[in-house]
This record gives sequence, C-alpha cells and structure tokens, in this order.
Amino acid sequence: MTTVSSRTRRMHPLPIRIMHWTNALSMIIMIGSGWKIYNDEVIFGFLHFPQDIVLGIWAQHALQWHFFGMWILAFNGLFYLAYGIATGRFARLFFPIRPREVVAEMVAALTFRLKHADLTHYNAVQKVLYVGVIAIIIVQVVSGLAIWKPVQFSFLVSLFGGFQGARLAHFLGMAAIVGFMVVHVALALLVPRTILAMLTGGPAVPAEDPHPEGAPAPTTPH
Ligand code: HEM
Repeated sequence: MTTVSSRTRRMHPLPIRIMHWTNALSMIIMIGSGWKIYNDEVIFGFLHFPQDIVLGIWAQHALQWHFFGMWILAFNGLFYLAYGIATGRFARLFFPIRPREVVAEMVAALTFRLKHADLTHYNAVQKVLYVGVIAIIIVQVVSGLAIWKPVQFSFLVSLFGGFQGARLAHFLGMAAIVGFMVVHVALALLVPRTILAMLTGGPAVPAEDPHPEGAPAPTTPH
C-alpha cells in the first residue's frame, strides 16, 4: 500500500473524486429525465424511450428532475473546469494529444490489446474521450439554455440555426454522452483497479509539478 507524504499526492485527489461521482449521478438524472421530456414531443417518430428507463412520471415531473440535475451538473462542472485549469491537472493529464498515438491506441483498443498498467497516466484514447466529452457537455449546456429560454437566449438559438436546430443538437449531444458512458464504463470495468482508484484516490504520485493538486502552492523564500 502506498502512503502519501508531503512530496507525493494521490492520482485522484478528493475534490476530483467528489466531482467525478457527482457528475456521474447528475448525468444519470439529466439523461433519464431528458428521455421522458423527449417522449412528450419526439424528434424521430420511430424513437420513444420505454417508461421503465426514464425518470419522471409525466413530462412536467421529468422537467423538474431535469432542472434539479441541471444545477448540480452546471455548478459541479464549473468547479471541475476551474480546478482542472488552476491546478494544472488538465495540462498534465489530458495534453498533449498526438494523433499518431490516438490511431495506434485505437487499433490496440479495438483488438483488446490496449494496456492500462500505469494508472497515473491516461493513454491517448482516454485523453481524446475525456477532452471530447467535456467539450460536448459544454455545448450541451449551451443548447439546453437555448431551448430553455429561447427568447432571452435568442443569440444562442441562432448559433444552432433556430429552435429545432438547438433541439436536434441537444439530442445528438445526449446520444454522444450516452455513447461515451457506454465505452467509458466498459473500459473501466475491464480494468477494475481504475474504479477503485476513482473511489479511494489511487496510487501516490510524486508532487513534482510546480502546483500539484491538493498541495499548497510553494512559497518563494524572501
Ligand atoms: C457512472 C459510471 C462511471 C464510472 C464507473 C466511471 C469511472 C471512471 C474511472 C474509473 C475513471 C478513472 C480512469 C482511469 O484512471 O483510468 C474516470 C475518469 C473520468 N470520467 Fe468517469 N465514470 C463514470 C461516469 C462518468 C460520466 C457520466 C462522465 C461524463 C459524462 C465521466 C467522465 C470522466 C472524466 C472526464 C474522467 C477523467 C477525470 C479526470 O481525470 O479529471 N465519467 N471515470
């Protein structure tokens, strides 16, 4: 068992773990209630979500769940973005993304040869998936605002080419997030140690960065 000294920190500091699982819960609320709201006025005639997998008894009830989840998702997401940028976590773990590595690791993943022995680094496929889903969630919030208050946020509506365009973008964003979740959870289950790490903090890593997460910023001697 690794111990955390003043010169080390956890791969996933406590704020990251709390924000990750809060995000997962809010996303389940958003998707389940979103499906119920969609059923009330479908975009694709052939697609209705079964009552057993939606959240909400009727559309208005689902809308209340959707707004409840929205506040959690938005504030949690803002804290996560601020934390990831301020601590240098995004720069250290998500970048650089090299297209050549992405292709090579994509092939390895599809042929079940992708290794994830070192939990302290993300492979190129993970980097693309994480940066991609964060970007999609941001667009999803924007299209959601456009649908919610189309008069007040008419400039956002015009970004999507009109109200129906914003609705379609919101639906496609949901589909992309659900697709991400299926792949993400499947990959995590293939390497269960990663789930344990997201629960307990994971291995201790050297705090060699100028501003490591969870550690106070170094003070310069006078
Ligand atoms: C509910 C089931 C979920 C499980 C079991 C799960 C599991 C995990 C695990 C194990 C990691 C660490 C990966 C590693 O160390 O290799 C991780 C990271 C991550 N997950 Fe999830 N996750 C779930 C839901 C979600 C959802 C819904 C999203 C977003 C839509 C998401 C976005 C992310 C992101 C962006 C990271 C990287 C976080 C960082 O390092 O800052 N996860 N997840």
